[in-house]
Amino acid sequence: MTTQSLTGPTRACTRLAPRFILSALLATFVGTTAAIAQNASFRSTTTRYPESSGEALYHAICQGCHMADARGASGAGTYPALAADTKLEAAGYAVLVVVQGQKAMPPLGSALSDEQIAAVVNYVRSHFGNDYKDEVTAEEVRAARP
Ligand code: HEC
Repeated sequence: MTTQSLTGPTRACTRLAPRFILSALLATFVGTTAAIAQNASFRSTTTRYPESSGEALYHAICQGCHMADARGASGAGTYPALAADTKLEAAGYAVLVVVQGQKAMPPLGSALSDEQIAAVVNYVRSHFGNDYKDEVTAEEVRAARP
């Protein structure tokens, strides 16, 4: 009699335990998936960046590869310096690279507006030892889109 009354609640407990573990696992899984999804949408080129100034855009996007000082890097890949970069003299070239991408540089045309691309191109062309006075306009960026 006494053993029966003991096994009663114990059984109920062992029956509940797997359910609890399952729901805990599920919660962890859902949490992780949400985090991955969030991360993926952050990386997706269809996501619009909220920044509008060239400086903020540079630090949000470009510095990840070209480095904060725009001196570039090489290791797992080669990221050219944008600092003192004579190739930036041709504003149209910089616009094209940002809009359409080039080799290991991803196209950012669908992630950024014409105004944002003009702003970030103007920023790199007038900072990091670059001193090109002519400014790219949003209209020029629009014209460079495929
Ligand atoms: C995922 C890494 C990555 C990101 C992010 C990135 N770039 Fe690049 N960028 C590259 C690579 C790699 C190249 C070299 C492409 C090649 O081999 O022609 C490059 C080349 C360039 C060039 C041509 C430089 C030259 O001397 O020919 C410009 C201009 C440029 N990037 C500007 C930008 C700007 C502005 C941003 C931010 C809006 C940016 N990049 C974001 C990787 C990146």
